[in-house]
Amino acid sequence: MSAIRLPAAAAGIVLAACIGLVSLAPGQAVSAEDVKQVAEKRSMAMKAMGGSMRTIKGFVGGRGSKDDVVKAVAVIASTAPKIASLFPKGTGMEALPKSEAKAEIWVKWDAFTAAAKTLGDKAAVLAAAVDSGDKGKIGAAFGDLGKVGCGGCHRVFRQKR
Ligand code: HEC
Repeated sequence: MSAIRLPAAAAGIVLAACIGLVSLAPGQAVSAEDVKQVAEKRSMAMKAMGGSMRTIKGFVGGRGSKDDVVKAVAVIASTAPKIASLFPKGTGMEALPKSEAKAEIWVKWDAFTAAAKTLGDKAAVLAAAVDSGDKGKIGAAFGDLGKVGCGGCHRVFRQKR
């Protein structure tokens, strides 16, 4: 193997770069510029999950390949653990006129992060169902993911405009 060993700090930086939002830990105050940036990242992440849901829905309806669905589920599974970092304090609808993020997020932060964890759990169940190839299981897991995983958070923490 390579003689070059990455110091732990450097590994941390690499990891931070992957997550992309390390300077915006929840609870930390953010500048106006950061608020805009975080809103864009958040929107992109949510829309990517929305696109994945469409792909999975298509598959449940008999369209698309298993490969596409595996990728779509992976997008959701990998986004779920990042959701909390996409919502630093001060980036809700009061700060951003276009945002649909309710102030409750930061009042009930534990419930919010629990909802994100639930989404990750539901994505894991769906991934297993896709792996099994059982259409009935896939359909049921997909329905549950949408209703409980996405909807469970949206119903409480998102105010549609
Ligand atoms: C833990 C909470 C949470 C979970 C889980 C969650 N969302 Fe969201 N989502 C939000 C919030 C809050 C907003 C509003 C963000 C804003 O406007 O600032 C949002 C916004 C969105 C938007 C609109 C984005 C835009 O900018 O137009 C889409 C699309 C979306 N979510 C899709 C999904 C899908 C699909 C899932 C499940 C696979 C999901 N979300 C799971 C909290 C969540």
